[in-house]
Amino acid sequence: MLDLIQRAAKDLARAKNVVALTGAGISVESGIPPFRGKGGVWEKFDPMEYASIEAFMADPVKVWNVLIREMKEIIDRARPNDGHMGLARLAQMGMLKTIITQNVDGLHQLAGGAEVIEFHGNFAWHRCLDCGEKRRTGEIDLAVIPPRCRCGGIYRPEVIFFGEMIPSYCLMRSKQVSSQCDAMLVVGTSATVQPAAYMPVIAKRNGATIIEINTEPSPLTREISDYLLRGGAGEVMNAIVAELEEIRRQ
Ligand code: APR
Repeated sequence: MLDLIQRAAKDLARAKNVVALTGAGISVESGIPPFRGKGGVWEKFDPMEYASIEAFMADPVKVWNVLIREMKEIIDRARPNDGHMGLARLAQMGMLKTIITQNVDGLHQLAGGAEVIEFHGNFAWHRCLDCGEKRRTGEIDLAVIPPRCRCGGIYRPEVIFFGEMIPSYCLMRSKQVSSQCDAMLVVGTSATVQPAAYMPVIAKRNGATIIEINTEPSPLTREISDYLLRGGAGEVMNAIVAELEEIRRQ
């Protein structure tokens, strides 16, 4: 693995425009379970029954009680881990410009450094279905489920449910940065949900080096990634940053 760490550090040091695509795996070490694989949320709940916009509109109480309340408690406690901090360090070193994240936990913003594109929205805000009023999630009173706005409308999280469109700005900006980068770090994603999983394909097609960090291979590993650094995001990012700081000292 050390030679791959050294290879990744050299590829990143040589790159002029690095973009990262992250998924739930980068937040696992912050106590937020992934959706798929070991301990995955979708191993317990059917996403179409709890995470689609149809399911929410049909039975907001069920979705609030089973999925959203639990997500709120987990995300409220979560803090950035070495994976998020490692990407922030790359940004401080001027080696990473943009993070396209599928995560809604806001941990990249807390870690700071790069532009963050929230491909699937975020959990930090809720919006009234009737009047559109937005409230910070922390201000939502969960004593009554589903929580309601002053106008009587139901609050929904500003996440993108299955069956909803990716916000056009996010999609356009993600395609733009993916087509312009010369290296892409793909961290902690099963690369199974489109169109997010297509961003590395766009980058690859434009000649970028695709560096994957994951505890398991993904559908990208054989076809798209130049190589897979197999391990936890925190531990691998620590090793890459240490190697880059060594290169800069020389
Ligand atoms: N470090 C790195 N990778 C990890 C770690 C870790 N500590 N733990 C798990 N992983 C990897 C898993 O091997 C898996 O490939 O992270 C990936 C998590 O995959 P998913 O749970 O499918 O998460 P993600 O790819 O972000 O899902 C995409 O699906 O349900 C929707 O909207 C949801 O944004 C989500 C989208």
